[in-house]
Amino acid sequence: MSKVTFYPYGKSGEIPDGTSLLDAAEKLGLQMRHDCGGFATCSTCRIWVVEGVTNLTEIDLDEENMLEEAQLTAPFRLSCQAKIQGDVVVRVPDQEMEWSRGALRELDALDPAVREIIRMMVEKRARLQGLSAILPDTAIPFVADAKKEVEAVANDPDRLAALVKRIFEAE
Ligand code: FES
Repeated sequence: MSKVTFYPYGKSGEIPDGTSLLDAAEKLGLQMRHDCGGFATCSTCRIWVVEGVTNLTEIDLDEENMLEEAQLTAPFRLSCQAKIQGDVVVRVPDQEMEWSRGALRELDALDPAVREIIRMMVEKRARLQGLSAILPDTAIPFVADAKKEVEAVANDPDRLAALVKRIFEAE
């Protein structure tokens, strides 16, 4: 049995090892999207691993292909594929915000390796300011600030991990 915690709901419980994160969520009463039914072909069950990445089974070829197709990099996993083998803390992503076409151009220009993290940083900041959509006026400065912040720690794994943790923690 391992302790699994889901942000931002604060749901936590002891789950048998070998259970997928998707099934663990269900056992704890959380409804997560899983459009393909758990066959690693949709990526709607994506989840961020906040702590305990090595306490999950390794990414297999099917999951790797789907993550790549969806342009998702660590700390993302597919919750239907990642099985528990120790304590983990994960975060269910927020509903994605709407980006205008002009705003999306800012995001599309980024290196895919950091795009999702920066999108998340921008959306989190926008949400805190009460915005419900991202327009170019917001995207240009917010993306630039987030990019600067990520670049400042990119060569320091500890600081990068701390930044990622902060982003994925509950708001
Ligand atoms: S439910 Fe479709 S990839 Fe996990």
